Amino acid sequence: MSKQTVFLVGATGETGESILRALLDDGSFEVTCFIRTASAHKPSVQRLKDKGLKVVFGELSDSTENLANLLVGIDTVILSIFAFDVGVEASLIQAASMARVKRFVPCGFGTPCPRGGVMALRDLKEVVHDQIFTLHLGYTIIDVGYWYEISSPRVPSGKFDYAIMVPRNKVIEGGTAPNMLIAKKDVGAITARIIKDDRTLNKRVYVCGDILTQNEINSIVEEKTGEKLELTNETTADVRKDLDQMNRAVQDDPSNLAHKYRLSNAQYNLSKYVRIDNTPEIAEYLGYIDGRKLFPDYVFQKFSDFVNDLAAGRVQRPYPHVSL
Ligand SMILES: NC(=O)c1ccc[n+]([C@@H]2O[C@H](COP(=O)([O-])OP(=O)(O)OC[C@H]3O[C@@H](n4cnc5c(N)ncnc54)[C@H](OP(=O)(O)O)[C@@H]3O)[C@@H](O)[C@H]2O)c1
Repeated sequence: MSKQTVFLVGATGETGESILRALLDDGSFEVTCFIRTASAHKPSVQRLKDKGLKVVFGELSDSTENLANLLVGIDTVILSIFAFDVGVEASLIQAASMARVKRFVPCGFGTPCPRGGVMALRDLKEVVHDQIFTLHLGYTIIDVGYWYEISSPRVPSGKFDYAIMVPRNKVIEGGTAPNMLIAKKDVGAITARIIKDDRTLNKRVYVCGDILTQNEINSIVEEKTGEKLELTNETTADVRKDLDQMNRAVQDDPSNLAHKYRLSNAQYNLSKYVRIDNTPEIAEYLGYIDGRKLFPDYVFQKFSDFVNDLAAGRVQRPYPHVSL
């Protein structure tokens, strides 16, 4: 049987690496990695070449005709680009339609949330979805909950500090909001399953490995480490104050990446802990189908097992180039 051809944009990123690894492990895909020309000399790109992978270069802003030439014979396009760049893929979407790509997986892999001013990133992503729908292009929108890697509090001994980018020691609104969570490695593995399955064509699909409140996360960490967490409490008013502050900080210095991450984090806090959007119920309300039911044999890592990895020094800190 011929292999499914996949054009992956963002293969050297956090989620993209997870997707690439899963596609290669699966063995039934032929992967082309699209790399922007300016990044051609990065060591991460050299590593792709060293693996013998097909790498093509260009810009997402290239002409539709040029991008369509790169997409000849491609079944599936997957985008997993820098979140703040979402919106630059209009020409690629046109090109995918022109080249008769069967399925376009836009840059998703986040938490479900309605459009309309809650999370700027969600609003950008929904504009991209509209571009796909306008062309009647085959699609699958995949959302996965929030990564375990950015969901853990720090412990007083400091033994998690090597891997924790954002310590979650602020308990918001009593810590009782359930949230869908996932290990980053499972994002790639389940994406490989999803794009092989016709039931997910022209659908929004959600998956997750666990559904936990902050209080449950904190109990698991305390139980596993035997350490008493140092926690503070935040209210909805604190979340909104933080949002206002970060909005102002980004307006004052739009090029400051740390400010953008903090603003995004504040918007996530509003969506996850105040509005409680990141749940199966809201995902289904928004029209998603439950990927856990489609792939009941797929075993997601549980958060408690992730904490074992964290304690054993087996977790990589996401975004090593970003300090907050
Ligand atoms: N569920 C969660 O908890 C969670 C957490 C984080 C992210 N996400 C989501 O996952 C998705 C991917 O984000 P990420 O943080 O994994 O990505 P990332 O690590 O920032 O990786 C970005 C990748 O895209 C490439 N890239 C960036 N801008 C590009 C552009 N304009 N044109 C072409 N390639 C470009 C980068 O390559 P070069 O820069 O080397 O060219 C890199 O390979 C986003 O939708 C984000 O919202 C979800």
